[in-house]
Amino acid sequence: MPETSAIIDIDLLRAEALGALGKLNASDAAAVEHWRVEFLGRKGRLTAALRGLATLPPDQRRDAGAAANALKELLESRLAEKQAQSAASRASAAGGVDVTLPGRRLRQGRYHPSTQIIREICRAFNEMGFQTVEGPEVEWERYNFDLLNIPRDHPARDRWDTVWVDQRRPEGAEVEVGQRMLLRTHTSPMQGRVMEKVQPPVRVVVPGKCYRVEATDATHEWQFHQVEGLAVDEGITFADLKGTLYEFARRIFGAERKVRFRCDYFPFVEPGVEMSIDCFACSGKGCPICKQSGWIEVMGAGMVHPKVLAGVGYDAEKYTGFAFGMGPERIAMLRHGIEDIRHFFANDLRFLSQF
Ligand code: PHE
Repeated sequence: MPETSAIIDIDLLRAEALGALGKLNASDAAAVEHWRVEFLGRKGRLTAALRGLATLPPDQRRDAGAAANALKELLESRLAEKQAQSAASRASAAGGVDVTLPGRRLRQGRYHPSTQIIREICRAFNEMGFQTVEGPEVEWERYNFDLLNIPRDHPARDRWDTVWVDQRRPEGAEVEVGQRMLLRTHTSPMQGRVMEKVQPPVRVVVPGKCYRVEATDATHEWQFHQVEGLAVDEGITFADLKGTLYEFARRIFGAERKVRFRCDYFPFVEPGVEMSIDCFACSGKGCPICKQSGWIEVMGAGMVHPKVLAGVGYDAEKYTGFAFGMGPERIAMLRHGIEDIRHFFANDLRFLSQF
């Protein structure tokens, strides 16, 4: 008889469902899930029974409905108990650790963008036989200027707005005495330091921090890095300079790069040049990165001035060499389209974490 079968079904169903659940092993998640689908699922047996209620006459429907809903709550709460037992048994199996918890994300550190580009630049030269050396940031004017053919009172000193550390002007003295200390304004002082120590052949790259008195803006910082290069030996020519720097430009900016050398003046090289590459953004057509010129200046360079060689005791008749210096922040800015050099020293993670 269909009218009463729904009620009988519910009693039977309760007995069957609880019996089956009781026999299940809590840690067998697949079996527990199977049970849930069979009895509580959308197409499960309890749902079918609830649907059957609609066929009952109205006076029976209320009681039967209440009984079916009570069974639903009962089965759901027993299921929840079973699932809790199962989590607990997994945790104890793992020695008190709940291996079902989601893992914690590991924070990964990385190198500062300046460090990354400096390493890349040095590696390019290392592979061409240049050794990386480093020197002091607080420097004597002898290395920063005098040995580089920039004597005191030479107007070229104005080109490097210097942070002086020690004026060496004793109390009451009219004039400064001896050597003064400064924060190096470029990495070129390492040219003299290296050549004083070793005889040719010399092939070094020198990464390091430099300082200048600057009103900071998007392209000027009072602190920045440079990478210096120096090669001295018998028979080094301007062709070696060009070949080495061309190879460097191709490695850093792409194999299809063209380079251009134009005259520039630095007291410690003769001839002196600036090296530019054809704009990698527009391939020379003109764009905002190259300021419509098609060329981007990337470094200063030149043949080591004989006075510099003689100054460290090298035989300037026998040896020749070339030197170059570049700003890695500038190179990274070009590469990544960074519009303000001050980002490099602001320690803002929103900037740093992009590299
Ligand atoms: N030291 C120079 C500067 O800071 C760059 C340079 C290095 C130029 C070596 C020529 C040779 O501007």
